Amino acid sequence: MKQLVIFVAVAVILTVGFKMFSNNNGGEVMAESKSNKKVLVAYFSASGITAKVANKLSKVTGADLFEIKPANPYTTADLDWTNKKSRSSVEMDDRNSRPQIANKVSNMNKYDVVFVGFPIWWYREPSIIDTFMESYDFSGKQIIPFATSGGSGMGDSGSIMQKLAPKANVDSGKRFSSGVSENDLKAWAKKWL
Ligand SMILES: Cc1cc2nc3c(=O)[nH]c(=O)nc-3n(C[C@H](O)[C@H](O)[C@H](O)COP(=O)(O)O)c2cc1C
Repeated sequence: MKQLVIFVAVAVILTVGFKMFSNNNGGEVMAESKSNKKVLVAYFSASGITAKVANKLSKVTGADLFEIKPANPYTTADLDWTNKKSRSSVEMDDRNSRPQIANKVSNMNKYDVVFVGFPIWWYREPSIIDTFMESYDFSGKQIIPFATSGGSGMGDSGSIMQKLAPKANVDSGKRFSSGVSENDLKAWAKKWL
């Protein structure tokens, strides 16, 4: 009889313990799926440096990747910042310049978080990024700018982009060196995922 009582007690403890354990696990799974946001990395890159960082970022975040392609691609002469009359100089001199984009994100609606990458041109985002910001309804979305440059920081890129998409929540973003590691990108991006 005594043995039976001990056996039942052990069985009850094991059953309750197992339930608590499995509930805990279930809770964790739910928490994970709740933060399972849809993420896009969209980028413009004239000479491939930002493209490399964007590729790494999409890899470590599991995000979709979209290249913002100019309708009229930039030639080497267009990118000559030493020439006041080059296409990039003229565009960047005019705050209302909106170079056309050749392609479109097919369903921007489905994304919660959009990383927007670009090279710093004249201490801010290139005008084609302004076109991008005005091309979609970003209401309620988290936008995070990121950039590469010869050394300059983000400047006013984040606040300019916020003005162009007032219903979005635009972070000030971060400038990365061309060789930034996957680990550093992952650590930076995780707060929005
Ligand atoms: C028109 C133009 C303007 C630039 N202006 C700046 C600048 O203000 N500050 C800076 O550090 N680098 C500047 N750069 C350098 C780029 O930001 C840098 O080379 C960037 O990594 C290029 O990225 P990409 O290969 O993705 O186009 C400029 C480059 C160009 C073509």
